Amino acid sequence: MSPSPETVLVTHPVPAGSLDVLSGYDVISLPGEEPVPAEVLAEAAREVSAVLCSLIDRLDEGFFAAANNLRVVGSISVGYDHIDLPAAERHRVTVCHTPGVLDEATADLAFALILGAARLLGSASEDLMNGRWRGWGMNQYLGQEVHGATLGLVGYGRIARAVERRAEGFDMHVIHHTRHDTGLASWRADLDTLLAESDIVSLHVPLTDATRHLMDARSLARMRPSAVLVNTARGPVVDEDALATALEEDRLFAAGFDVYEHEPEVNPRLLSHPRALCLPHIGSATTATRTAMAEMAARDVVAVLAGKKPAHPVPGSVPI
Ligand code: GLV
Repeated sequence: MSPSPETVLVTHPVPAGSLDVLSGYDVISLPGEEPVPAEVLAEAAREVSAVLCSLIDRLDEGFFAAANNLRVVGSISVGYDHIDLPAAERHRVTVCHTPGVLDEATADLAFALILGAARLLGSASEDLMNGRWRGWGMNQYLGQEVHGATLGLVGYGRIARAVERRAEGFDMHVIHHTRHDTGLASWRADLDTLLAESDIVSLHVPLTDATRHLMDARSLARMRPSAVLVNTARGPVVDEDALATALEEDRLFAAGFDVYEHEPEVNPRLLSHPRALCLPHIGSATTATRTAMAEMAARDVVAVLAGKKPAHPVPGSVPI
């Protein structure tokens, strides 16, 4: 009798055909788009060798302790702040993610938010669609110029640089801040300097202890009252209450957000503000990109199960 194949748990439906590479494995697919409760996830992962998850799944110590046979997690996301990496390491589980394939789609969305927030497209469209528009007006929906503006990128990884390429087409002056000197004239050593110089600030840092509430009341106060803040990175990088206050007190012109501090909850003060443009975390949401992400994660899972090195382990997750 041949040994039974290893089992891969897929925590949410993925685009059709993206898991073909798993054809030699038993695959358990959970049916829902909603976050799976921790105890259900732990129970489902009890006997499996691999998990393909997404960023709404919290993989903590309890999960890794319950998943006795687990060897690899492939997260269909570039961010991995939802995974307790020290716990994964303690339980000798390799963690992989999907860098690179979503850069262009996410940069497209960041640029959509730059344009949409600066030009007040959210409230303009909402008024029109809800029958509140009575005709053209000289002083209606007066936004900020995007072309020719100074764009400040916080973080300068692949997605930030993809946003920069788009900005060049709009004749924007682009500066960036990272902790380490990039050696470029557009580098600003100090976040406050970048915030003070920028007409539009776009966030592109991962969520870590160092970036949690990087944009708090103090740093928001460094921004120009005419400035726009865009976040396609991770919600907790911004103190949402402080942001809402800055908008309400006209100390910030507009905000374009795709991610939130307590997803899927969104601060009601942000949702109701006419100069906040809020999207439901759709940075990578195109069929082509989501398919490529799922394929990439699945290929790494197969590599680890076959005893090979995965192509995209998260930094610090040593392939075991
Ligand atoms: C999206 O937020 C991702 O991390 O893939």
